[in-house]
Amino acid sequence: MTELRTRRLYLRPLRLEDAPRVTELVNEPGIYERVARIKPGQSKEETGRWILSVERGHDLGTDHVFAIMEGDTLIGTIGAHRLSADRPYEIGYWIAPEAWGKGIATEAAQAVIEWLEAIGAADEIVSGYFADNPASGRVLEKLGFEATHEAPVYCAGRGKDIDHVFMVRKAAKE
Ligand SMILES: CC(C)(COP(=O)(O)OP(=O)(O)OC[C@H]1O[C@@H](n2cnc3c(N)ncnc32)[C@H](O)[C@@H]1OP(=O)(O)O)[C@@H](O)C(=O)NCCC(=O)NCCS
Repeated sequence: MTELRTRRLYLRPLRLEDAPRVTELVNEPGIYERVARIKPGQSKEETGRWILSVERGHDLGTDHVFAIMEGDTLIGTIGAHRLSADRPYEIGYWIAPEAWGKGIATEAAQAVIEWLEAIGAADEIVSGYFADNPASGRVLEKLGFEATHEAPVYCAGRGKDIDHVFMVRKAAKE
């Protein structure tokens, strides 16, 4: 699978051995309360099952999830997921709190978008963020995403529906 390098980061496929570190990080409320599908108290086994499901999705061409590495340290994950080959990719990401505010999410997502462009899968890319998480909205705005609409989405980390801003990034027409 693809590996991507940026000025400061190395993005490589997520592996089963990453489960302990990923579990430690996703148990931070600052992360699980801001993404849709991570519940509090996720176990290493649950993380491992998710990593294996991503590997199956990779073989089907629906999931590409990268570990974001700064040196030898995993500081986040970023993924492109689509429901089927005829649907646009959705990107999602989280960064370890100690690494926030340094442009890491933007740099990693830019690399993934450029890779999707290179494989011809970037005519339309979708993403979104909970309305009370403007930092993620800013990341998406910097990457060229525009808001389409707002609607509640269930947040497993908070156990309730939260207002969510849906965004799309359309490739510039030649
Ligand atoms: C959201 C998140 C990915 C941002 O990561 P990051 O590496 O700190 O992001 P960047 O440094 O690339 O960019 C953050 C931008 O948001 C801005 N920002 C930070 N806090 C903000 C706030 N409260 N309101 C508005 N903008 C804010 C920063 O100033 C920066 O914009 P700038 O470059 O124009 O100054 C990170 O905080 C995170 O992982 N949060 C938990 C999980 C999550 O939210 N995932 C995304 C789900 S949609």
